[in-house]
Amino acid sequence: MTLKAVEKNPSAPWTPDSWKEKPAKQLPVYDDPAELEAVEKTLKNYPPLVFAGEARSLKKQLAKVAAGQAILLQGGDCAESFAEFHPRNIRDTFRVLLQMAIVMTFAAGMPVVKVGRIAGQFAKPRSDTTETRDGVTLPSYKGDIINGTEFTPESRRPNPQRIIQAYNQSAATLNLVRAFAHGGYADLHRINKWTLDFVKDHPLSGRYHDLADRIDQALAFMAAAGITGQNSAQMREVEFFTSHEALLLPYEQALTRVDSTTGDWYDVSAHMLWIGDRTRQPDGAHVEFLRGVKNPIAFKCGPSLSTDDMLKLIDILNPENEPGRITLISRMGHGKVEDHLPALIRAIQKSGHVVTWSCDPMHGNTRTSSGGYKTREFENILSEVQQFFAIHNAEGSYPGGVHFELTGQDVTECVGGAYKITDDNLSERYHTHCDPRLNASQALELAFLIADELQTHYKRRRDENGDLPQHGM
Ligand code: PEP
Ligand code: CO
Repeated sequence: MTLKAVEKNPSAPWTPDSWKEKPAKQLPVYDDPAELEAVEKTLKNYPPLVFAGEARSLKKQLAKVAAGQAILLQGGDCAESFAEFHPRNIRDTFRVLLQMAIVMTFAAGMPVVKVGRIAGQFAKPRSDTTETRDGVTLPSYKGDIINGTEFTPESRRPNPQRIIQAYNQSAATLNLVRAFAHGGYADLHRINKWTLDFVKDHPLSGRYHDLADRIDQALAFMAAAGITGQNSAQMREVEFFTSHEALLLPYEQALTRVDSTTGDWYDVSAHMLWIGDRTRQPDGAHVEFLRGVKNPIAFKCGPSLSTDDMLKLIDILNPENEPGRITLISRMGHGKVEDHLPALIRAIQKSGHVVTWSCDPMHGNTRTSSGGYKTREFENILSEVQQFFAIHNAEGSYPGGVHFELTGQDVTECVGGAYKITDDNLSERYHTHCDPRLNASQALELAFLIADELQTHYKRRRDENGDLPQHGM
């Protein structure tokens, strides 16, 4: 089909490669198409990383979030990297997400749907296609699945072989994550014990102690009633899902398969995929690709998103208005959320579309430090989440979830938090391959502060509709 014909008819038949007929932003230019083709062919024969049934299960849980009956917690690295690939890093990210989830579950009295930015979060959109240093211009670094960070022509060349390495790393990561989720590591008592230790030594211990103690008491009560990790799978195991930005379409296409149970297409590179703020053009390649796979999908909603485009995107991506299919990830920046979010929420309410709302307070709050590091202020991150909750509350809409860039490691990439990291500290342990992440302590601290928001929100809902369960505080 010609490009013109497809543009005229947005509902032209979808195929795993119909995106190639559409204008694509942010894709790398490979200098040897035959080499890329050989890699794609290899990958097409590799096993799926996730199963269609798991993606369907996540969709059901996200439908519960959309209906105000659960909370979404999504987080992980900005960019996974080959250099930082280590079981300790995977374990620590998994652990901090579970710690956050327990705090949030208890505060809201609602299940928390846990989704990692993990096992495939490699490809990065960049503002500039090239970078110039000392008069030398090379392609920008676009994530380890595409090229290397080192500023040399060899390293910055988009290299298709990296796609295979990223797949292998994703497979090994997922294998470990599945073992952690189901092999006893995720035991609620054990995870909460770490939270208690965190609170005990924390400078703001007084503030968080009460909630941590109450969780501990609830778990002790359950143990006394005979419900422990030994006899209850719910206490010992968690459901944990994977997600990444579906940026590198040749990788996504090679991992797109027909599900034998339903006959539908699924992108089996992750349970959930999202479209970035820079690649969400309604007539663009990324939207075209994702409209045809049945996974739950999300798109980022930055300050430049118009209500018209948002509605157009939802019409294209979810024509049947299936609950759980679409998550809208608002990432406005703390200074802009109030100006932009209410109109989007109202347009959704008027349209009757069912969506899951989530807040990414990271990507609209990036600045460059005095020493030249990309950083984010803890206070601004918190402020965007608080405003997100307040605006949804005021509009009578449900603030479904949160989306963070975080690591379980003790890095110094975002400033602020109880340990008062400053611009001067950034050089100490700045390890990210792309954007600054919350460290383990900042992430958990944020979960406690979000717990306050959750409690306010649920108290209000209980007051308004006496039918809600009397959970929590
Ligand atoms: C990201 O989530 O890493 C990202 C690049 O976000 P955004 O598309 O919102 O800028
Ligand atoms: Co990022």
